Amino acid sequence: MAIFKAVKISESVYWVGAIDWNIREFHGYTTHHGSTYNAYLVLADKPTLIDTVKAPFKDELLQRISSVIDPRDIAYIVSNHTEMDHSGCLPEIIQIVKPEKVFASVMGAKALNQHFTLPQEIVPLKTGDELSLGNKTLAFTETRMLHWPDSMFSYLKEERLLFSQDGFGMHLASEERFSDEVDQGLLDYESATYFANILLPYANLITALLDKVKATGLAIDMIAPDHGPIWRRDLAVILDKYRAWSEQKPTRKAVVLYDTMWHSTERMARAVEEGLREGGARVQLMSMAAFHRSDVAYEILDAGALVVGSPTLNNNIFPTVADVLTYLKGLRPKNLVGAAFGSYGWSGESALQVNDILNEMKIEIAHEPVKCQYVPHEDSLAQCHAMGMKVARRLIEVAG
Ligand code: FEO
Repeated sequence: MAIFKAVKISESVYWVGAIDWNIREFHGYTTHHGSTYNAYLVLADKPTLIDTVKAPFKDELLQRISSVIDPRDIAYIVSNHTEMDHSGCLPEIIQIVKPEKVFASVMGAKALNQHFTLPQEIVPLKTGDELSLGNKTLAFTETRMLHWPDSMFSYLKEERLLFSQDGFGMHLASEERFSDEVDQGLLDYESATYFANILLPYANLITALLDKVKATGLAIDMIAPDHGPIWRRDLAVILDKYRAWSEQKPTRKAVVLYDTMWHSTERMARAVEEGLREGGARVQLMSMAAFHRSDVAYEILDAGALVVGSPTLNNNIFPTVADVLTYLKGLRPKNLVGAAFGSYGWSGESALQVNDILNEMKIEIAHEPVKCQYVPHEDSLAQCHAMGMKVARRLIEVAG
């Protein structure tokens, strides 16, 4: 008996994915609300499966397909993205389904063969290629680096439905299949968190892609991503959000992140916070003992300033602060001003080392690093407060 059933999402398309309620770690990103691995079955003359799921969820995928058709009736499989959460069970699915053809982008065909030993050749596709399913047509656009070099979008012309793999997705396990059915606060939070942690490094490419799609005048009624809910009535909302997140125009919000050993750097952080607020900034204070690095990425997405505090430990940046800086550096946030501070015992390298990393991240330094030996007294706290005021003044100049 098939426990897992397909969900019809349009005239000929069924959601046949898997729900991963319990995943909390996704290559360094904490997924507070689990995820889904979406796959789609197009019931055309040539039944076509768009993407598969993470390997342990193969049976869930097969059961959902079986609730509509015999999986062996699938003629084509299209792999929009090679990452294992979408291709992990592809080799086994090919063995079971024995499709006539399997398709991927040019880079996807290469990457799939580097990941797996596949029982049949992958037919490469490039931007502008179309695939006839008999009574339906799929058109393809390569979307390199959104999220991997192999990524592509597939567009079902007759139903104006875009299969967007990681694009417009979010890590959210839920019973609801459509975005308009999900609590809107949760939807906003998870879509922004996903963008910040997965797509931020490629923000410039996203802006260019949005412009390209707009120029083609392509009509889209539904966006079906590979994670989280499907967009149907609220396409303009998510498209506008993607543009805003991609542009990262600075706001008056400042993120102060720090960790502390004996509360000295923490006291400095509170003085910076007060200075920022008095200077006119909105502040989000984040101790790395309390927040995860992916929570910081979410807060940075709509911030204009990043101020970082670290004690010196064994001539180095404190490990939790080094961790989040390494992560943020990889995400390449734009248009930030910032500064560094930290306490120390006898050598005091950390504030300077943090300042160097902020420079490497192309963050405009608004104040020289502030260091304090052992415990901050009135003069050190006043310096931190003044630093906060100065960062806030610069933030207001750039953010307006
Ligand atoms: Fe959901 Fe880039 O994989």
